Amino acid sequence: MTHATALLHPAFRVGEIDRRLFGSFVEHLGRAVYTGIYEPGHPAADEHGFRTDVADLTHELGVSVVRYPGGNFVSSYVWEDGVGPSRTPMLDLAWRTIEPNLVGTDEFLGWAERTGVEPMMAVNLGTRGVAEAAALVEYCNGQPGTRWADMRVANGRQEPYGVRLWCLGNEMDGPWQVGHRDADAYGILAGQAGQAMKLVDPSIELVACGSSGMGMPTFGVWEQTVLGHTWSLVDHISMHAYYEELDGDRASFLGSGTAMDRFVDRVVASADAVAARLRSDKRVTISFDEWNVWYMRRPRQGQEPGDHIRPAGPRLLEDVYSALDAVVVGDLLVTLLNHADRIAIGCLAQLVNVIAPIMTEPGGPSWRQPTFHPFATTARLARGEALDVRVEAPAFPTNDHGEVPAVTAAATWDDGAVALFLVNRSAEPATVELRHPGVALTLAGGIQVTADHEPAVPGPAHAAAVTERHVHTLATAPVVGHGDGTTTLELPPESWTALEGRGSV
Ligand code: AHR
Repeated sequence: MTHATALLHPAFRVGEIDRRLFGSFVEHLGRAVYTGIYEPGHPAADEHGFRTDVADLTHELGVSVVRYPGGNFVSSYVWEDGVGPSRTPMLDLAWRTIEPNLVGTDEFLGWAERTGVEPMMAVNLGTRGVAEAAALVEYCNGQPGTRWADMRVANGRQEPYGVRLWCLGNEMDGPWQVGHRDADAYGILAGQAGQAMKLVDPSIELVACGSSGMGMPTFGVWEQTVLGHTWSLVDHISMHAYYEELDGDRASFLGSGTAMDRFVDRVVASADAVAARLRSDKRVTISFDEWNVWYMRRPRQGQEPGDHIRPAGPRLLEDVYSALDAVVVGDLLVTLLNHADRIAIGCLAQLVNVIAPIMTEPGGPSWRQPTFHPFATTARLARGEALDVRVEAPAFPTNDHGEVPAVTAAATWDDGAVALFLVNRSAEPATVELRHPGVALTLAGGIQVTADHEPAVPGPAHAAAVTERHVHTLATAPVVGHGDGTTTLELPPESWTALEGRGSV
């Protein structure tokens, strides 16, 4: 049995939770767009050709922001080919796929509006530059009367879309990125593009590319150099991180949240170092615009090979998730909440079919992967302020991240509505003595996910069976004891738990 304590009080706050923390991502990659969100002729398609079943699941997932159109895809994208009456197919260099350009800026922004999600657009700073980026902002946000805004009007959309969030390229530190640059070259270009984009629309928020991962050789120096060039213009610096269970190293995988935690601390330190150097009071926040479990190194079956140009909508990156993956995703959300003061935006990468919580079959059903549940629950319950929950827990050793705590927690407080998120990473049950001195706390039920040891099998039937066995609705909190200002909870091995409650001081 693992024993941990957690101290909770509404006076100990991390910060206000930005709803944009619960974003996702749709890239022109694999079947994210074609037969994902968009499939004309599908029985559930609306009059625009978008699948209403997928839009409904997006809504149920609680997604606030959706990033588009990439990802690596954006670095060779010609957005003008994806608007207007005649669409020219193009070769997407990132995924070596034919892009039919049937869905472009107007179709995506229309879908986002109808689905009730905020769009987050990315501009191509790989093969293109300042002029095309500024033109796209004008196309989306300009008042009629100038060239690109009038093109939008001619394409059927009078009102500006008012897109607020803009990414200055994607993963420009990565050698795989088409048109990748060193930090100085990217920083100068991003600064110039950002300046022009803000001259078109000063109300937009800009995201500069941070590192593609903490393991990048330029990590840290990259952030400081890029922010040095763009400091007065950008609002956010991006982070990307994917985690996977490698060679059966379950302990390291379960400790992924600690790796994410350290990554955030280091990016915050890098941004604040630039602030110190520039004697600036500005606080650049983080756009964690790609995070998830991704079995990058695991051979996949049924995937479209890459030795030829792929036809549109190939099966790519269709990871099938287990209940263990769902526990880790829940834990990664705990980390995001615990950094709510500095993470303004988060995007679970991606939304549908591509390393996604939602899957579809062409002409067939859509379904929830096990990872859908911790995300949907956290997005629903985490409101108001994130609290600074002080956890004391034993640590266990991992090969990849050193010692990691066996129990993690996050809590939120919204005018007395409490949500508590607890993870037991250890292979034995854990008791958590929750200390809440001076707070009358009632915990009701919630949702619990317990990890499995089963190989994940594609298809809706297996996903439903995993949910049945491993995702439990709790009618009451798993309380095993009460004391003076304490509530003791019991957590199953390798589990993620979310509880709702009320508190008063
Ligand atoms: O999300 C899949 C890919 O991962 C994105 O295109 C890229 O930005 C990242 O490397």
